Amino acid sequence: MTPSPTIEARIDDLLAQMTLDEKIGQMWQISGKIDGAEETIRRGGVGSFLNVEGDVAHELQRIAVEESRLGIPLIYGRDVIHGFRTIFPIPLGQAASFNPDIAREGARVAAREAAAAGLHWTFTPMVDIARDPRWGRIAEGGGEDPYLTGRIGAAMVEGFQGDDLSHPERIAACVKHFVGYGATEGGRDYNTTYIPETLLRDIYLPPFKACIDAGVATLMSAFNDLNGVPASGNARTLREILRDEWGFDGMVVSDWNSVLEMIPHGFAADAKDAAALGVLAGVDMEMVGDGYVKHIAALLDEGLLSLEMIDDAVRNILRLKMRLGLFERPYNDLDPSAMLLAPDHLSAAQRAAEESCVLLKNEGTLPLSPTISKVAVVGPLADAPQDQLGCWVFDGHAEDSHTPLAALRAALGAERVIYAPGLPHARSYDEGSPAGGIAAAIDATNQADVVIAFVGEDALLSGEAHCRAFLDIPGAQQRLLDALKATGKPVIAVVMAGRSLALGPVLSAVNALLFAWHPGTMGGPAIADLLLGKASPSGRLPVTFPRAVGQVPLYYNQKPGARPAPADAPIVPTGTPLDPSGFVTCYLDVDHRPQFPFGFGLTYSSFEYSNLRLSTQELAMGESITAIVTLTNTGERTATEVVQLYVRDLVGSLTRPVRELKGFQRVELAAGEQTEVRFTLHTDDLAFHNAALQLVTEPGDFHLWIAPDAGSGLRAEFTVVKK
Ligand code: GLC
Repeated sequence: MTPSPTIEARIDDLLAQMTLDEKIGQMWQISGKIDGAEETIRRGGVGSFLNVEGDVAHELQRIAVEESRLGIPLIYGRDVIHGFRTIFPIPLGQAASFNPDIAREGARVAAREAAAAGLHWTFTPMVDIARDPRWGRIAEGGGEDPYLTGRIGAAMVEGFQGDDLSHPERIAACVKHFVGYGATEGGRDYNTTYIPETLLRDIYLPPFKACIDAGVATLMSAFNDLNGVPASGNARTLREILRDEWGFDGMVVSDWNSVLEMIPHGFAADAKDAAALGVLAGVDMEMVGDGYVKHIAALLDEGLLSLEMIDDAVRNILRLKMRLGLFERPYNDLDPSAMLLAPDHLSAAQRAAEESCVLLKNEGTLPLSPTISKVAVVGPLADAPQDQLGCWVFDGHAEDSHTPLAALRAALGAERVIYAPGLPHARSYDEGSPAGGIAAAIDATNQADVVIAFVGEDALLSGEAHCRAFLDIPGAQQRLLDALKATGKPVIAVVMAGRSLALGPVLSAVNALLFAWHPGTMGGPAIADLLLGKASPSGRLPVTFPRAVGQVPLYYNQKPGARPAPADAPIVPTGTPLDPSGFVTCYLDVDHRPQFPFGFGLTYSSFEYSNLRLSTQELAMGESITAIVTLTNTGERTATEVVQLYVRDLVGSLTRPVRELKGFQRVELAAGEQTEVRFTLHTDDLAFHNAALQLVTEPGDFHLWIAPDAGSGLRAEFTVVKK
């Protein structure tokens, strides 16, 4: 965002007319039409609402514009996280597409629908790097890698905001939660985080910077305390890094009551103390909590805050409202009925769902032959219209969902589909219901050529505060799968979930496994097209899949450690009980490697990587290097490969990760087709933060891979030399 002189002049002019109470009022966001809302608005006592829309929103805005002293319009926020009425795959699923265009289009569609409902601002993209799938909010972000998360987050900002924030079909985005929330200890939400600043700057901050470079209009502070200082009272991150280093001139909103939650954090003694800490740290607007409106005036009188700080906060708020054009166009004049669930919105959602699904196993079972005579469709998630939408769905309606069952019936003809849910819902242990339970599912399978089992997590198990200590598929679903396997018929699992799971037992029971995340409104047709071969799966994992929850945290860009385990490290040492062979980094009771590495995914074809070559073996500081690989579709059908570029800095002044993702390209090739895939890296792309927190590229040897995932690929070497 480049400051507009006219806007800045208008802000100065308006600020000069505002009373202190009116300034403080702008710094408050209220959720819902609370008692007395009208009078509060009339006296200029509130600047924003979340969770109001339609006629209520119009009336409250009318009061603000026509009945308050200065007529400053309200700004309306909402969690439009992965769609408004047309629900797209959860953000983690969108990241699995490794396609920023998917994320951008999903955000553009969401903005059109949300704006038509009278909203101005969404609290997304969430770009919290998550290395712990026990945390329910891993569903809401881009996964474990900062580069992928940054690309997806920036694309969402572009989709929501476009290049003119005042456009009637665009809304302000909000990058969140600043910062480090995904490192919450134990994967337990709202918990403490310890992140050394070198790690913060190399892993957790870069996706935020990518979104700010994309022009995000607002940012939300987080719930967690970071190294002992709550993120919503953290001047180091909110002022020194965000404002002073990065020059962010957008608006900072707290998370829900996160200013007053500095009291339970034990960082603020009371609400007045918390309000002071929030303002001092640079939180412009307090979401829901009323610390600002109750205590800022007294804090000013006592000299604990300065009027300049308040003016700065109000400037940021007024700038946002002016950039949105709210003063010129405070009322919504779009017709939602023309926008909601528009055909092009639904087809965009279906494409997103199709590209987000990841094929994890296929013993030649998929794609199904179109001439197949009978298919058994079982499982509690085959016809679960609310659950397939996933977490954070305020305005999506279950009745809009196209479920997998409906889609398969439409594609194959109802007479070719035998349906038996097997269990009442995903967490149920009631094997006898509904309609005969698991026994009926076995019976349906015995009548069919193949069984497709839709299992996984229901939506409740995903999202905020929904953390799990185990990563299995819950309830009696594994018993269902084992019973299906016992029939001897080919078993295909379609797993819906909001996180990576420990899929070992599931994999043992099935011949094929398609991981669909929570795929949204059009999940059914997308999955059906993939199962029937109308499209080939192209998704890749944005998070590592562990074998056991005990391996967590487990992520690809880990440090090598002193004794990295060799690939063939024994699962159970072959040495004597007191002196096991293998004094290396591993476990006695599980293979130390992931079940599936970051970036992994199969297609209905096969691809060969060959002839990796570099433009140079030696690179002077400030120069670029190009890596080229030959990619061949060696299979029998057109498919899309996600070609990934990784590097490793072999020796650093700080230990360096064993791999770092630096690029990816989706490449579609017809059967037998061959192409050259090239990546170019500048020495700046190899930089990291050293112990002095300087962003540096150090001379030395590097490995480079062009690969299908973080655990394989062709490797080359090069050296960076001082100029
Ligand atoms: C919630 C979430 C945040 C959301 C906000 C408003 O607690 O942490 O992501 O945008 O409150 O609903």
